[in-house]
Amino acid sequence: MLGGHLLHGGDYNPEQWLDCPEVLEEDIRLMKEAGVNCVTLGVFSWAVLEPEEGVYDFEWLEEIIDNLRNAGIQVILATPSGAMPHWLTQKYPEVMQVRADGQRNLPGKRHNFCYTSPVMRAKTKALDEALSERFGRKDNVILWHLSNELAGNFSDGACHCELCQSAFRNWLKERYGTLDALNHAWWGRFWSHVYTDWEQIHSPAPHGETTVTGLELDWRRFVTDQISDFCGMERQAVALHSDLPATTNFMDTFKNINYNRLQRELDIVSWDNYPFWHRQKDEVPAAVQAAFNHSMMRSMKKKPFLLMESVPSVINWRNNNPVKRPGMHMLSSMQAVAHGSDSVQYFQWRKGRGSYEKFHGAVLDHKNGSSTRTFREVAEVGKRLPGLDRLLDKTVNHPKAAVIFDWENWWAVEDITGPRLDLDYPACVTSHYRAFWEQGIEADIVDMDADLSGYEVVSAPLNYMYKPGWAEKVRSFVAAGGRFVTTCFSGMADETDLCFTGHHPLEDVLGVIQEEIDAPSEEFENQFEYGDRKYPARRLCEIVHPKESAEVVSVYERDFYAGFPVVIRNPYGQGEACYLAAESDQEFLCAFYADLFARAGLVNALETELPYGVTVTERTGTDGKRAVFVMNFRNSPVTVEGIGRWTDAEDGTVYEGKLELKAFQCAVLK
Ligand code: GLA
Ligand code: ZN
Repeated sequence: MLGGHLLHGGDYNPEQWLDCPEVLEEDIRLMKEAGVNCVTLGVFSWAVLEPEEGVYDFEWLEEIIDNLRNAGIQVILATPSGAMPHWLTQKYPEVMQVRADGQRNLPGKRHNFCYTSPVMRAKTKALDEALSERFGRKDNVILWHLSNELAGNFSDGACHCELCQSAFRNWLKERYGTLDALNHAWWGRFWSHVYTDWEQIHSPAPHGETTVTGLELDWRRFVTDQISDFCGMERQAVALHSDLPATTNFMDTFKNINYNRLQRELDIVSWDNYPFWHRQKDEVPAAVQAAFNHSMMRSMKKKPFLLMESVPSVINWRNNNPVKRPGMHMLSSMQAVAHGSDSVQYFQWRKGRGSYEKFHGAVLDHKNGSSTRTFREVAEVGKRLPGLDRLLDKTVNHPKAAVIFDWENWWAVEDITGPRLDLDYPACVTSHYRAFWEQGIEADIVDMDADLSGYEVVSAPLNYMYKPGWAEKVRSFVAAGGRFVTTCFSGMADETDLCFTGHHPLEDVLGVIQEEIDAPSEEFENQFEYGDRKYPARRLCEIVHPKESAEVVSVYERDFYAGFPVVIRNPYGQGEACYLAAESDQEFLCAFYADLFARAGLVNALETELPYGVTVTERTGTDGKRAVFVMNFRNSPVTVEGIGRWTDAEDGTVYEGKLELKAFQCAVLK
């Protein structure tokens, strides 16, 4: 475990309070009271660390790090490239991003620098190296936090300046070698879009090209590569005088950066979790979303990740911002740990007095010191986590199932003009994942580059794009006994969005021949029977023919395609593939996956049926150690029946046969 224990703390911005020594003293005193053992410093401190070009002032930071050390508090040290000081943008305007419409940004905000600009890179590198030299070997500094939420502020997260255009052209030259190859991949003769000179290529723009999906895809890949390259440059800079690991804080499923690519630059994955709790009385949708994201972060390295930010009370950037109801702070913090986080960190420790985030929740409010409900609930987490250090050390979740979530597939499926224009890939994948969550079956969330061996069940909803090697990988997975689920509109196109011709790349494994795809209007909703119930078939209804080997489980009941299969099972090798030809609803997905899990022999850790709103996941260690987290996302008590014999890992209570959970309770069992 990084730092030797579960980390508890968060972003600390003392540079906003340097002229108030009494505040800085109170901070450390109250951190102790809240059970804070780690804070993140320097995330947006560039203007204070380098007040003038080339003049560094690190004294204040050193003093704060030393004071924290004397109080036994560890430090995650950030590089400050997340926001630029005004002297930099004034002297070197080229560091500011150019938007897709060609306009260069004015100074201000954050996350808005050009990733290509040699000046930006040089200034960042020099400051990072100086930080590395001064702080990289301090004993209470444990981790580098590179920049902040990379590419977080603009609609496409990209810079379209001339430097970036030329870097993009070089990137394309490397990828395709010749313009002929590029023109083929982008299907250039359509509308006479044949490039005869590399200089003719320009990034997608609202007043320019928006219709070539091959270009869109490559531009998105390039942007991810360019950002990853910038991050890699920072990674190297901080390593100059320091052996500490490095991370950068991800957001959730953030479309503009393929995090599975960016994570390769990092030692540890970390992310910022802001679920919309209390959006509605049913907390399950928010819980599923958070669980999905946590699991995805863990799956990137198959190692514990860090929850870098979360809010102890209320955020300030949604239309309405509900405060966390009593108990939700503990539950949502435990949820992160349950899915593999080795930390509970907050944005932020203390509310600032001015500017944009002054009403964003923090551990300390403007008033009342530690006498607040928020502080007390934070302190409860601070008290609870150390009791779990020993149990959770060297453990992580090892699911037997995986759900595919692939950024390139996402970009493709939402960029194309295809059977519907409202395809929502994350929502579709999440609805499949929800069936796992409701039954307490943990899944890894991985992309098409993942190694599938070791999984019993792999689900790839709306898997439109097949990257090179993917079909072969799935074929071997199923041949060896795996169970693979996919849906309509899968296996349509390759990685440059050229459609496959002839047949579906996995026709033999899936046992279906695709023919037409109907995107019916609501009045034309179809239906089918599965088990003993009718379910809707809607939005995307594919008309497919079963191959001889396939078992047709359900058929459409209406319209001219009545009798055509909707749910198909095809045995292949030692395993089976399931094809869901239509979109249906959540109840269907839950029923379908329940049957699949039963066939695959997958059971949840408690080996029992879970009441609605309750889920379970477990972290295990190599020595056979198990920590089972049972979480109740209902704001009312609930009883889980049929559980066998378990011991509460925290207070030693023995449960036999049933477990009673209070509202929003998370129990840890062993
Ligand atoms: C992000 C940022 C933080 C802060 C929070 C507010 O996660 O990284 O600096 O702005 O959002 O929710
Ligand atoms: Zn640029």
